[in-house]
Amino acid sequence: MIFLKKKQIPLNHFFPEGFVDIHSHLLPGIDDGAKNIDQSLALILEMRSNGIKNFITTPHVLGDVYPNSSTTIQTKLKEVKQALISKGISDVSLKAAAEYMLDEQFTELLEKDDILTLKDNFILVEMSYFNAPFNIYDLLFEIQLKGYKPILAHPERYNFYHHDINHYYNLKKAGCLFQLNLLSLTEHYGKGVQKTSEKLLKENLYDFVGTDTHHQHHLTILKKIGTKKNLKNIEHLLLNNTKLL
Ligand SMILES: [Fe+2]
Repeated sequence: MIFLKKKQIPLNHFFPEGFVDIHSHLLPGIDDGAKNIDQSLALILEMRSNGIKNFITTPHVLGDVYPNSSTTIQTKLKEVKQALISKGISDVSLKAAAEYMLDEQFTELLEKDDILTLKDNFILVEMSYFNAPFNIYDLLFEIQLKGYKPILAHPERYNFYHHDINHYYNLKKAGCLFQLNLLSLTEHYGKGVQKTSEKLLKENLYDFVGTDTHHQHHLTILKKIGTKKNLKNIEHLLLNNTKLL
C-alpha cells in the first residue's frame, strides 16, 4: 500500500508553475461543457486547486450543433471573467479560443479570417470520430497558408487511424501539431485510445497536452494521471504548455 502511494503525485505538484490548459469547455451554455455560470466557476476553482491556474478555454465551433462565433465566445468569456472578479479570484488567467471542427463552416471562417487563436497563431482543430475530412491535407495546407499553426486535438481518439501509425506521421509531416488529452492516459476513452496515446508518446509525436474538461466527472478521473510514471513520460509536454502563457 505504502509502495503504491509513493508512486502517486498530487496534481498540484504534477502541473508545473505557469502550466496553461489549452483545451477545455468551461464557458457556460455554448457547447457540451459547463451548462451555467455556477458550473463554470466550480470547474475553474477545482482545477485551480489541482494546480491549473491558466486557461485558454476552447468551446466547440461545430456546424449547426454548436454554431459559435468569435462574438458568442468573447461574450461568455467576459461573463465568466466578471464572475471570477466578483468572487475575488485574482490568481486565475482565463482566455478563450475555440476547438474548430474541420468542416465547411470552418473553411468559411478561415476565408473571413474570423479565427480565435490560442497564442502565436496556434489554432486548436478537431475532426469527426468517424472519419477524417476527405480533403484533410488541403485543409492543413490552407490553414498554414493563412499563417495559422494547426494543433490537432486528441489524435489518439480517432479510431480510424489506430491501425497504422503512418497516418500520424503523415499529419505531422503536413505541419499538424498534436495535443494529447490527459484523460487518454487512463482508460476513460477506452483501451484502444490509451494504447494509441502510449504509442504516440513513445514515438515522440505529441507537442502539447490538454485536459479537455467538460464536467466534474472529468476532473475526478484526471486525479488518476498523477503518477511518477506519467510525469516522466509527459513532463516535456507539460513544459511546452507553459510556453503558451
Ligand atoms: Fe474538446
